[in-house]
Amino acid sequence: MSGDSSPSAKLLLECVEHVSTPVYVYQADVIEQQLQRLKDAFAGADLRVMYACKALSTGAILRLMNELGTGLDTVSIQEVELGLRAGFDPSRILYTPSMVSFDELSAVAKIGAQINIDTISVLEQFGSVFGGTIPVCIRINPHIMAGGNERISTGHIDSKFGISIHQMRHVERIVTSHGMLINGLHMHTGSDILDADVFLQGAELLFDVAESFPDLTFVDFGSGFKVPYKPDDISTDIEELGAKLCQRLKLFNEKRASPVALWIEPGKFLVSQAGTFLTRVNVVKQTTSTVFAGVDSGFNHLIRPMLYNSYHHITNISNPTGTPRVYSVVGYICETDTFAWDRKIAEIHQGDVLAFSNAGAYGFTMASNYNGRLRPAEVLIRHGRIVPIRRRETIDDLVRTELDGE
Ligand code: LLP
Repeated sequence: MSGDSSPSAKLLLECVEHVSTPVYVYQADVIEQQLQRLKDAFAGADLRVMYACKALSTGAILRLMNELGTGLDTVSIQEVELGLRAGFDPSRILYTPSMVSFDELSAVAKIGAQINIDTISVLEQFGSVFGGTIPVCIRINPHIMAGGNERISTGHIDSKFGISIHQMRHVERIVTSHGMLINGLHMHTGSDILDADVFLQGAELLFDVAESFPDLTFVDFGSGFKVPYKPDDISTDIEELGAKLCQRLKLFNEKRASPVALWIEPGKFLVSQAGTFLTRVNVVKQTTSTVFAGVDSGFNHLIRPMLYNSYHHITNISNPTGTPRVYSVVGYICETDTFAWDRKIAEIHQGDVLAFSNAGAYGFTMASNYNGRLRPAEVLIRHGRIVPIRRRETIDDLVRTELDGE
């Protein structure tokens, strides 16, 4: 799928008519197509797609995923709860937390979600409390540097995630002493990984470790599949990766008494290109050095450009055939919040609607109320219908949790 899979300007403007701006618009058919691509690419394995709901966890999206038959990858008990509310059976929920309290871990274990442990001391504690009664997956840190930048790279030696691949003997001792049941091995090395070989390199290490765990029913290779953010961007060749990984898994399974399933945890791959963020231009400001287009949003709604220097393609859907001019697109936050420098965009006038492509993943879920601003509305387009799935916040939502303090 190319970088720009945005719906037509007409449909997007209809969404704006319905719910105004700022608004996130998601296309169900793009999510379905991406899921199908994964299923086709990994057809050679017993595949389970665990949607990483940190990318986008709005109820309607989770219900759609449940309907499409995915599982859910979660990181907090709250995400587990969101999954349950959306109708997911606990057995289809994977819980991969980082640095959570043992109370939270135990509560999720009792709910019946698949537990994934990434710390030796926690594994030991879990073993002494639950023994072999609750199966556990182990998250391994393979010490591979991967991912778009250091903030989203998780498998390297300085990362807080996972149990070092060099500590497997210790893991085995704990598992044996407590009679634990290890049913899965997991690794996730980062986000925006371009090189299929990184996954294959990780896979080799994981298969190696797997020899010591006879009760495995699955291996989980996490995610990090890169999607094309720029119009001519390259992305992970999912078809090539799928074919190679399935082939390797087949060889591995031939040597085992019972074959293991292949789990993956895509977030971005499923929802990024399905999402478009729509904002309205409040002000066009010519300064001595640039022309700023200031929109009714900021890093309170879409923080990726400021946090990771991420590129989101921007189009002026109110004037798509206008002469392209060079703009810097900024937000209304009282700090520097530049979405894009020196971008060629069809001539912009006050009131025009700008569409940010590829905004489905880590857009709304990373939004905040900074500057007292309200979080945007969300809309799902399904079977050609525009369905509002979240109303815009109000000032009452902003103060809902406050107490008088008297
Ligand atoms: N599994 C685990 C254990 C993860 O930590 C993540 C993402 C995923 C799966 C999903 O990865 P994805 O398919 O979305 O690349 N906020 C950043 C990305 C941070 C990803 C955190 N973990 C961004 O906007 O690029």
